[in-house]
Amino acid sequence: MTGVLITIEGVEGSGKSTQIRRLATRLEACGLPAVFSKEPGGTALGKELRFLLLAPHGSGESWCPEAEILLFYADRAQHLATLIRPAIAAGKIVVVDRFEDSTRAYQGASGVSEDTLRRLRELVLGDFRPDLTLVLDMEPEASLRRVAARNGALGETFRETRFDGETLAFHRRVRGRFQEIARQEPDRVRLVAAESDPDRVETALWAEISPQLRRAGFRVP
Ligand code: TYD
Repeated sequence: MTGVLITIEGVEGSGKSTQIRRLATRLEACGLPAVFSKEPGGTALGKELRFLLLAPHGSGESWCPEAEILLFYADRAQHLATLIRPAIAAGKIVVVDRFEDSTRAYQGASGVSEDTLRRLRELVLGDFRPDLTLVLDMEPEASLRRVAARNGALGETFRETRFDGETLAFHRRVRGRFQEIARQEPDRVRLVAAESDPDRVETALWAEISPQLRRAGFRVP
């Protein structure tokens, strides 16, 4: 039996981390073999790339869009080769917090051309795709307020990551691109409304995930 890859996507503050924790608890309670990971930074070397990508550099220099996307793909290539593909081959349910669609949404919104996005995807992924992608969809104004409240609660006056400080217009473009991907690939990608309370979001996510797991041959109670 081979495993499955489920990716969870969405703008910052859409509640991904909370929902992924809940999913981990649920899969464990069901006795299902799951592996959880994230991008960027799902491997030891990838964590170094994550730092390079997200921490503001002391010099004030920032990555140009082409350099940035190559680093995201370097992280992804390593993640695929050393963690994701082996775990799927071992029959695991692999759940990844952000994957390819984040690149299409964020780097596309940063101005990388569709042609470059397509060519890099082809190079690193070939025709490999997640079995199911869930996009936690919400209006960025609300999600960014959550991020600001979280940072405030932590007593942080600096930006949590480089991307958290981007403009509302940028995040609206990111959201629009996730929605567009869902329209283009309705069999793989589902939008889940993320603004309601976490219990309802969890129920909506499970309603998408459980049939997928059953189809893949997992015994889901
Ligand atoms: P992270 O702290 O993991 O944020 P979140 O909790 O919202 O997932 O930061 C990841 C950031 O990197 C996030 O702003 C999205 C961005 N990103 C890209 O721009 N392209 C990508 O391919 C990936 C995987 C992430």
